[in-house]
Amino acid sequence: MSVDQFQKTGRNALEQVDGILRNGWTDSPEYAIILENLNICLGQTILDAGCGNGYMAIKFSKLMGNTGKIYALDVDKAFIGNLKKEIGKKSNIDAFVGDITKRTDLKDSSVDIAYLSTVFHIFSESQIVGFENEINRILKPKAQLAIININKEETPFGPPVEMRSSPEELRQKLSFVPTKLIEVGEHFYMQLFIKV
Ligand SMILES: C[S@@+](CC[C@H](N)C(=O)[O-])C[C@H]1O[C@@H](n2cnc3c(N)ncnc32)[C@H](O)[C@@H]1O
Repeated sequence: MSVDQFQKTGRNALEQVDGILRNGWTDSPEYAIILENLNICLGQTILDAGCGNGYMAIKFSKLMGNTGKIYALDVDKAFIGNLKKEIGKKSNIDAFVGDITKRTDLKDSSVDIAYLSTVFHIFSESQIVGFENEINRILKPKAQLAIININKEETPFGPPVEMRSSPEELRQKLSFVPTKLIEVGEHFYMQLFIKV
């Protein structure tokens, strides 16, 4: 399915990883797995928290066409400055500097999907509490939190193993309801939660 066709359906049409790759959404099977499992619908509001250079926010934006809103947030001013330059003024991405472990400028119950990729290991225990409070505040009821983590094992890259959380540890650290655990390539996993 092409981008145009997807945008006309108004629903999640990313049913096949094969299709995502074949149609050029991304050249990476890992990103295809992530996009497929997020069940993104047109018009939704997505938060890419700790977005880094914003590559995933840009994929979300491309997928949603000119519908919906993508908030790309990072504590790093340089990342956000560069992303703003890259996306220009007409994008449906709103990039801003912020700390997701504290209160942000996002409105209560305004976000359909909060996405956090390879950021959780950085948080201290008190930041995890702050993160949970803020995500709980900004997610709509029944909305989704997606956390991508690097596996808790020796890998050729990534933070020290002791900083990482296994899926079981992650689920214990957060009070959201876990829904699905997805293997993302050889080295990562995505744990999905919903807010009840
Ligand atoms: C390893 S990078 C991951 C970037 C991107 N999400 C990715 O998957 O490539 C971690 C990012 O989290 C950001 N970050 C760390 N703590 C944060 C916080 N409390 N709030 C928002 N962003 C944070 C860092 O500035 C950095 O850009």
